[in-house]
Amino acid sequence: MTEREGVTVVDHPLVQHKLTIMRDKNTSTASFRRLLREIAALLTYEATRDLELTTTRIETPLAEIVAPTLSGKKLVFASILRAGNGLLEGMLDLVPAARVAHIGLYRDPKTLQPVEYYFKAPEGLHERVVIAVDPMLATANSAIAAVHRLKERGANDLRFVCLLAAPEGVDAFRAAHPDVPVVTASIDSHLDDHGYIVPGLGDAGDRMYGTK
Ligand code: PRP
Ligand code: URA
Repeated sequence: MTEREGVTVVDHPLVQHKLTIMRDKNTSTASFRRLLREIAALLTYEATRDLELTTTRIETPLAEIVAPTLSGKKLVFASILRAGNGLLEGMLDLVPAARVAHIGLYRDPKTLQPVEYYFKAPEGLHERVVIAVDPMLATANSAIAAVHRLKERGANDLRFVCLLAAPEGVDAFRAAHPDVPVVTASIDSHLDDHGYIVPGLGDAGDRMYGTK
């Protein structure tokens, strides 16, 4: 795992191997979706590393012990639609009891500004850890807007998980939300003239759902 201020790049061999297959333009929709779900669980493992624990008294078949257990209210995963849902599945595999927020945003292809079409979040965001998810952090306009909306609803302990980030997006996101750590599998080279991550993997939503 490599670190830079507020950003964790998960360079675990399994994550990097799966990511390479996802980048390949010849990888099928079915494989892409399965790999995204698998990598999501591994990224979530890192993003939840510092969750607070408390203790509980239990009886094993052999003895009574005081053992660690997660403290506080259930986690919230906030999926930025559509592509966030691909990561969400794998995150829920790891934390099945998590609550889920949905933030519908699409990126206007001309202005690269996010357009919101849906927002629904569980109550009590102010007392929960909230992990916002989207496979791609390109300009970061979408992620910045989504986190802003979550903060408006009270969230104050946030993280952002993505599969790929552009250096421009990381800088913009950290400038807008310096209190929100980022976990990603890669920081790629740059953005192209259309705001696509290079080398990237193309349009994550299209590759997940077989659209164009
Ligand atoms: C993609 C991606 C992010 C956004 C990233 O979504 O899933 O939400 O673009 O770009 P940005 O960092 O420059 O904002 P898109 O708008 O294509 O919508 P979709 O998930 O519905 O396909
Ligand atoms: N959205 C994507 O899905 N891919 C990119 O490279 C940039 C934005």
